[in-house]
Amino acid sequence: MKHIVLATLMTAAAFTATAQDVNIYSSRQPELIDPILAAFTAETGIATNVVFLKSGMLERLRAEGERSPADVILTTDIANLDAMVQAGLTQAVESGVINGNIPASYRDAGNQWFGLTSRARIIYASKERVAEGEITSYEQLADPEWAGRICVRSGTHNYNIALTAAYLLQHGEEDTIAWLEGYKANLARSPQGNDRAQVKAIWAGECDIAIGNTYYMGKMLADPEQIPWATSVNLIFPTLNDLGTHVNLSGMAMTTSAPNKENAVLLMEFLTGDIAQTLYAEANFEYPLVDSVAPSALVASWGEFTADPSALTDIARLRGAALRLVERVDFDG
Ligand SMILES: [Fe+2]
Repeated sequence: MKHIVLATLMTAAAFTATAQDVNIYSSRQPELIDPILAAFTAETGIATNVVFLKSGMLERLRAEGERSPADVILTTDIANLDAMVQAGLTQAVESGVINGNIPASYRDAGNQWFGLTSRARIIYASKERVAEGEITSYEQLADPEWAGRICVRSGTHNYNIALTAAYLLQHGEEDTIAWLEGYKANLARSPQGNDRAQVKAIWAGECDIAIGNTYYMGKMLADPEQIPWATSVNLIFPTLNDLGTHVNLSGMAMTTSAPNKENAVLLMEFLTGDIAQTLYAEANFEYPLVDSVAPSALVASWGEFTADPSALTDIARLRGAALRLVERVDFDG
């Protein structure tokens, strides 16, 4: 496969692609998806071209319009996938293979996007200062017991908005406002930094629990400087409304303008197959969505959990309402 890594807008001519190639815009790192695309090409003989876009994918697709060379987009978070659909940049893909592999709650009801892996938004808890069983639910984040003990990144970040939207779906507006107010009152410091910075703060003694995505445990363990942060915490998979742990996803969609629709479908089907699911989940410490594929040994060591069974589509629909509530309680203030 060929790579083009550019942060700024470029023309379709930058692709030295042939008509049969599948062109991919990816916000996922090249080292993560390269082995999977190599396996796809080995199996099918179809070449792929990747443009890695750390940000600005939506704006770029919009600017390119009908002349966009992109067939398939790979990105993370329901927020990004939903935004693509709302902007009219995706088209439905009807595939029995994909729908047979990916559970319904992890794909769009209208087949506009499909999940590829999931990540849970969990609680990182100090091994020294939090007893086993002391916190088991997201609801408890608002309990006075946790006053001055919680660290979290901005409440308006996509990860936290999705969690608040999931809470809103379960509990309704009034209870969600009360939860956000109680949760905010328990913060050890005003929201700042990324997910890993919160675990560092536990290690440094600034707080006792933090909210973060599961794969950051794997990333911290892979960085010598961050290993002490990682080993200072236990992973807790909290439940929401007694149903299960809040999860988000990484996923894919076909662009509206896809020039090579036929081969793009073959790639999308391949990405939901056992080979790709294994490679993808191994490389990024995420959970495969296909039943027959197990998580990596490291990820499995974090423990089993039940995911909140709510459809990500329903959670996505409440993102706007969730953001308004987060702003109304001035969560970051
Ligand atoms: Fe992340």
